[in-house]
Amino acid sequence: MNADAGRPGSGPARLALEYLTGRLDGTLDLSGRPLREGESQARPGWRQVALIDAPDERWENWLPQHGITRIRRWDQELHLPGTAVHPASAADRQPGGTDVASAGETAGAGPRGLVSRGLTAALAGAELVLLRVPKDRGLFRAYLDAARQLAPGALVVAAGAIKHMDPSFTEDMRARFPRVDVSPAAHKARLLIAGDPAAGDRTVPVTAQETLAAAQPAGWEHPVDIRIDAESGLTVHALHGTFHGAGVDAGSRLLTRALAQAFRASTPRPRSVVELGCGNGWLSAWLARQLRPDHLWACDVSRLAVDSTARTLAANGLTVPDADADADADVDAGAADEPAVADSGGPRIRVVLDDVLASFPAAALHPGGGWPAPDLLVCNPPFHTGAAVDTSAAQRMIRAAGEVLAPDGVAVFVYNSHLRYRPVLERWIGPVEQLARDRRFTVVAASGRYRARNAPEVG
Ligand SMILES: C[S@@+](CC[C@H](N)C(=O)[O-])C[C@H]1O[C@@H](n2cnc3c(N)ncnc32)[C@H](O)[C@@H]1O
Repeated sequence: MNADAGRPGSGPARLALEYLTGRLDGTLDLSGRPLREGESQARPGWRQVALIDAPDERWENWLPQHGITRIRRWDQELHLPGTAVHPASAADRQPGGTDVASAGETAGAGPRGLVSRGLTAALAGAELVLLRVPKDRGLFRAYLDAARQLAPGALVVAAGAIKHMDPSFTEDMRARFPRVDVSPAAHKARLLIAGDPAAGDRTVPVTAQETLAAAQPAGWEHPVDIRIDAESGLTVHALHGTFHGAGVDAGSRLLTRALAQAFRASTPRPRSVVELGCGNGWLSAWLARQLRPDHLWACDVSRLAVDSTARTLAANGLTVPDADADADADVDAGAADEPAVADSGGPRIRVVLDDVLASFPAAALHPGGGWPAPDLLVCNPPFHTGAAVDTSAAQRMIRAAGEVLAPDGVAVFVYNSHLRYRPVLERWIGPVEQLARDRRFTVVAASGRYRARNAPEVG
């Protein structure tokens, strides 16, 4: 069996490379079928390529080997070293490869969020757009709209696993591009190919900067789903592809009920609150509204999530610094110098793209004061990678929580009741108290006051 066969996204990655190779060496036609003897087609001369949600590092490695070094990459998630996909900084590994957003970037509620800015930067000027078909059809449509508007005339090659691509994906593409080809299937994958084969005479400028400037006024906004949650009265904004869309997760709902009980009048309200893994931002908005902390730090590894959270917070009247204005702000050093954003009396807010809390300690521990360590940290961790149960992210989140929590702080987690997180929580944070439990979920509070960092290893 091929060593690649079990890797996630392996089939689409291979098929796309076979297609590109065949196009460059003149053996395949635009649709990915072998050219017949005597038949010929103009060979493409791609100079600038956008990679959207590349399944792994193979596309990025292949391109420079074929003389293409202007590579811009955008992924819906910040990918982490040691996982199936590429490390956070492509620029470190590939000459010419540039990642367009990195850990520690903040999302704001301005008109052009982190996702729009990133996709614009990645797509502007691209002559070839190579994208992995996302499972979420709304997100797929958003990618196609962005590619059509920001890289007009580019060849768009969307590679997907057949099991995730029903015919509606082809219809979505046909609704947006004058010509769409469907490749033959191979490696359990298929390509949807759109673009204008006469793109050689397109008039868009070729450098990313020029095209970025040209593309900005036209504007491209990632569409959002919006819902009002009747129980909390909060408005939820979610970019397509965000965890749970614009819905409210039942585990998070149980967590808020438990917190509402716990923070009844007698308990002093928390001053600094962190939400780790903020998703669509509903829970962050609830925390800000109900507990009225002075500081709220919300972070997520998903670019879609941090943008959604910034939008949700803003939609509920909470002031989120604008991403563009905030992009240059130095979180490490600057909290004391920052403009007061809490002019409506709400908390000072940061919505941060991050792997767990990697950017947080620098902010919290800066000698100038920085961001205060949380006296309440809230987390509804994921327990799936694709279809498989995977608790590794949750375990890393628990450990990170223990590292940043104020000495007398409390971390509140909600998780599926069958998962055995109690010993992990006890090890990295401190004694655990159950706050609530229903048929599916358990809510617990782990208290940092008795932090047992040096406790013996728990299996
Ligand atoms: C179960 S969802 C909860 C989302 C939201 N808090 C809610 O209650 O609806 C878990 C969230 O954790 C995020 N996440 C997963 N791994 C992460 C990591 N390493 N660092 C930060 N966030 C992560 C996911 O992107 C997802 O948005």
